[in-house]
Amino acid sequence: MVKVITYGTFDLFHEGHYRLLKRAKELGDYLIVGVTTETFDKNRGKLGVVDSLVTRIENVKNTGFVDEIIVEEYVGQKFSDVQRYNVDIFAIGSDWVGEFDYLKDYCKVVYLERTKNISSTFLRQTKYKVKRIGIIGNGRIAERFMPESKLVSGLNVQNVYNPRFESAKRFADKWDINPYDDLEKFFESIDLVYIASPHETHYDYIKSALEHGKHVLCEKPMVLKQSQAEELFNYAHENKLALFEGIKTAYCPGFRKMLGIARSGKIGNIRNVEACFTKLEKPYTRELTNLKFGGSFTELGSYVILPILKLFGTEFETLTFDSINAENGLDLFTKASFRYPNGIATATCGLGVKSEGRLLISGTKGYIIVPAPWWKTTDFEVHYEDPNVVERYNEQFLGDGLRYEISDLIAYLNGIDSTDFKFSYKESIVMASIMEKFLATSR
Ligand code: CTP
Repeated sequence: MVKVITYGTFDLFHEGHYRLLKRAKELGDYLIVGVTTETFDKNRGKLGVVDSLVTRIENVKNTGFVDEIIVEEYVGQKFSDVQRYNVDIFAIGSDWVGEFDYLKDYCKVVYLERTKNISSTFLRQTKYKVKRIGIIGNGRIAERFMPESKLVSGLNVQNVYNPRFESAKRFADKWDINPYDDLEKFFESIDLVYIASPHETHYDYIKSALEHGKHVLCEKPMVLKQSQAEELFNYAHENKLALFEGIKTAYCPGFRKMLGIARSGKIGNIRNVEACFTKLEKPYTRELTNLKFGGSFTELGSYVILPILKLFGTEFETLTFDSINAENGLDLFTKASFRYPNGIATATCGLGVKSEGRLLISGTKGYIIVPAPWWKTTDFEVHYEDPNVVERYNEQFLGDGLRYEISDLIAYLNGIDSTDFKFSYKESIVMASIMEKFLATSR
């Protein structure tokens, strides 16, 4: 019996997939198909896959060509599958020519001619209208947004706004997009706004964008007042517009995995969370000179509050702040202490004091430690009473990580995955209320 194996995502199952499977089956007697998991696709940078794993498997099965379906979960799996299943022929489309020659020591490798003029990427783009994005503010984070956005299908960044036209133009020239210093005109040809301007300008820009019927992705901290967050979310809901607070950690796969494990009961009941993020900034930067809205907590607080809200929820009993301030009154180092009915938490951040940027979650059966930079979660460990028992986990964090929130937003706008908010409206509103409380007590 000649065994053939092939692999793919098989998203939005199309004729190219059908023809590939048909010919693969004709190469032998028994066809095994490996279908990729969602995590594997995300980790190899294939974002925006529409169909769930179950649907993709079902579609592959319905062709009637397949004798066995397996899931492909990690890089290097093909190498072991070929040996494990005693495969005679490895078949794959001609877009991969040469890529799998390393399997030739174990089986025959066949590249099948790819069907012309069809692909899942093409179908995703035609099924879902490409979202046109405009960026407000073109500082450091916008520079990171540009390359990240190019990795997500279904969107096109085309405008940038800055009240200082020269600055918008420099950015626009670099990225080959259109510069604007007139907000009305900027809004005209876009569907979605990414706001990356200084914190204190967010509220007005979000309001204006929503009033022009635009969806919004706003950098953290979205706003610094609870009432503003409530007003904006209410307006967005009533007008069926998306409003996302962009805290990249909330959307990245490693952090999601870690939350799942922490909440699975593995470490028992969670009793303590400690999150720390510090960065030494030059004294003349905006963060250390803007007397009203600068300081370490407005800059980094969103990150360190995030795991606390995610693990303990939004209903804390008390919240107190302790800061070390610079001469100009801005906080260089802040500890926010939360008391919950069954646990305590501290969120520590600094721009003028350096500390270990780790996340520690302590429970009644064990603890989880995520080393710095935990806000870009990759590796983490679960420890127990017995020091010899350590479970190690790993997940990829690609590039600057903005691609994850962008792809979630695009999926949401396309009506996919709409219930699984990784950072909910409620959490975003509580985040604003914490910022408001901090500013009221510290300024
Ligand atoms: N395939 C093919 N002809 C096409 C499209 C895909 O023969 N027009 C083959 C691929 O070469 C691969 C298999 O089908 O062997 C599964 O490919 P997959 O990556 O799932 O499909 P694509 O349409 O290429 O997906 P995407 O656009 O997301 O890369």
